[in-house]
Amino acid sequence: MIDLHYGDFSQDGTEFVITRPDTPTPWINYLSNNQYCAIVSNTGGGFSFHIDPRDRRILRYRYNNVPVDRPGRYIYIRDSQSGQYWSPTWQPVQKFLESYECRHGLAYTRFTSIAFNLKAIITYFVPLMDNIEIWELSLQNLAPEKRKFDVFSYAEFCLWRALSDQNDLQYIQNVAVCYFEQGTIFYSLFDQAPGYAFFSSNGNISSWDCDREAFIGPYRSEGNPISVEKGLCSNSHALGGNPIAATCNHIELAPQETKTIIFILGVIKEKREVKDILKKYSSQQTCEIELQKIREKWNSHLASFYAETPSKEFNLMANIWNPYQCKTTFDWSRYVSLYETGIGRGMGFRDSCQDSMGINYALPKAVRERLLSLTKNQFESGRVYHIYFPITGEGDFPDYVKKELPFFSDDHLWLILAVWDYIKETGDLSILDEKACFVEGSKANLYDHLKRAVDFTLDNLGKHCLPLMGSADWNDTLHLPGPNNAAESVWVAMQFHKALLDLMELSKTYKQDNDSKMYKKLAEKMKENVNHVAWDGLWYLRAFKDDGDPVGSSKCQEGKIYLNTQSWAIISQIAPHERALSCMDAVKQYLDTEYGVMLLFPAYSRWYPDLGGISTFPPGLKENGAIFCHSNPWLIMAECILGRGGRAYHYFTQLSPMTKNGMQDVHRTEPYVYSQMIAGKSHPQFGRAKNSWLTGTAAWSMKCISQWILGIRPEFDGLTIDPCIPEEWGKMRIQRQFRDAFYDITINNPNHVSKGVKEVRLEGGLLSNNLLLPSPQRKKNTVQILMG
Ligand code: GLC
Repeated sequence: MIDLHYGDFSQDGTEFVITRPDTPTPWINYLSNNQYCAIVSNTGGGFSFHIDPRDRRILRYRYNNVPVDRPGRYIYIRDSQSGQYWSPTWQPVQKFLESYECRHGLAYTRFTSIAFNLKAIITYFVPLMDNIEIWELSLQNLAPEKRKFDVFSYAEFCLWRALSDQNDLQYIQNVAVCYFEQGTIFYSLFDQAPGYAFFSSNGNISSWDCDREAFIGPYRSEGNPISVEKGLCSNSHALGGNPIAATCNHIELAPQETKTIIFILGVIKEKREVKDILKKYSSQQTCEIELQKIREKWNSHLASFYAETPSKEFNLMANIWNPYQCKTTFDWSRYVSLYETGIGRGMGFRDSCQDSMGINYALPKAVRERLLSLTKNQFESGRVYHIYFPITGEGDFPDYVKKELPFFSDDHLWLILAVWDYIKETGDLSILDEKACFVEGSKANLYDHLKRAVDFTLDNLGKHCLPLMGSADWNDTLHLPGPNNAAESVWVAMQFHKALLDLMELSKTYKQDNDSKMYKKLAEKMKENVNHVAWDGLWYLRAFKDDGDPVGSSKCQEGKIYLNTQSWAIISQIAPHERALSCMDAVKQYLDTEYGVMLLFPAYSRWYPDLGGISTFPPGLKENGAIFCHSNPWLIMAECILGRGGRAYHYFTQLSPMTKNGMQDVHRTEPYVYSQMIAGKSHPQFGRAKNSWLTGTAAWSMKCISQWILGIRPEFDGLTIDPCIPEEWGKMRIQRQFRDAFYDITINNPNHVSKGVKEVRLEGGLLSNNLLLPSPQRKKNTVQILMG
């Protein structure tokens, strides 16, 4: 491994500054106001959409293109005299830049580059209140003489419905309408547009192109468009064809002079709206004000939780980059990135439940709304749709759902975990009284929705009295097909047990004592059963196949041990202490690697029809034995529950994106966010990460940081203080919003233990236990903790 850096964090940590454009994969950022979203890479690549990337795609992106990461929001600069041209974002022209810097900040991205004695700064952002994106371009002439430049902008429109744009080529080539009218390019469909996309600027547009072929020219690419070469566009319109927005501005710069052009791309219902938008955003001051609003929004978001520990990297994750990724996964689930195409699978039901758990401390209102709208995807029987789409919130199943078992055995249960988590954070029991729809259209209060989730699992138990696998469980690829539809999931049994414990507490708090007793009994029964049928001797089995044979047993040839049933045995409180220690040791022995912990071992070396999807991947990729990042924080939680702070921190650190910077020849994806997976030991590219950004790792890591390692855990009655840290840490400070009050907590660890709270002082007064009661009277609470 060589030390390979493509950039680093800014001094205050709020930006990742990329200093080489040729990163191993595009390193991206999400610029979004929750409705309008622009994905932008470190070379200007990416695309945009409005609310739903499937149905309202604004810009095209050619996934898996060669060269990678095309097209994007491009600027071309041409020296009018020499004819030299380049892109200040490096792509698509790829001409050498004397200096290059891409700063991915919190909801904005800024490029600064110098080439041919011209300095270019481009800032991209999406204002909070309008469905547009701004490209603010400043050009400064560094040469001692006056110079003229032709400045081109370029964006390629998509046919709103991104799927037809890909698969119905003969159709889409004949429906676009794109033209220049009074300084603005408008794009719509001939007869069925939901509105218009537009592109405009505050500069004097001297020529334009709306037709891609006219701008680029035959057998050329975005890297060498004929219009740029010539120094002017051909004023083409598109009636059919491939619509684009390309404009050309001629500018003249005296020595050291700077000029700014503000480009605006967006969506509108009526053409006349453009006038007001242009008026509002045509000045640099307005852009600065709008950027400031974005900064303030993020400052207030991040202020809900703040940690100071001896580890700078840990702090960066805790305070900035993990919360930032959590917001992105909450907004877009696993739907849209450079790897998730935003076409097929929609937002995930289970994913949204988990994502909400990573953010409810900062955005409780948004989580409340999300949880209540998710119930639209629950059937009266209690099962739920697997995916849903943002515009209507309505759900569906993926194609591979089994006809006879049209459910995923875990999906519906996540709602219980997410709702109880939200209530513990907010104290808001009223959410349980809210009437919410079922798929069938009938309504019940949220509490009833949760009860039905339990009923569905109880109605679908198999011959070991474990939950039937259904189409799969959390592991989407563990299909376990067979003629009897009899496969069972040990992991869901554990998740079910956790859901029963949660519902037991929740119903007690909700004054439904009989329900609470019933859930307690059910939980005891399931616990006993799992321990009876699913203990393999040193660890827990993962599942039973259709024919009743175990998965994840020492008796199996391959896939002998799976991670999730070990960590969840502890999270769900199924495992007695000695079994917990045994299975955690087995995880350390068989699954731990220097890049993270693998999902199973040994990986399957061939296709097994009775396992299904999981054995479609080569060994070490995806669910077949990769380091599937999502599962790592569960292990960290489990180790914290056992009080082993050293091990928990070891697992945390080796997975953290921060530790991947400097090893980009191996890791490859962005060192500021988690990826879905990292190739496992049995793969030749061991350590290579894939599918960055959209992963449940974000939410669970945030929970690990705040609630398990730092150990500040919301309960219905207050905040429990229970850190589980590396022994080296002597002092920490955590500032946290909890309901209506703010807590400033200092933790001292003079004896260097990893767990154990000796003393809790609130405003100097000693408390009798480690629970901080909610304090509606006092807005600010100073807390001193002594570990020992
Ligand atoms: C993907 C899915 C998630 C699933 C996981 C494991 O990340 O989005 O829902 O649990 O894979 O299969």
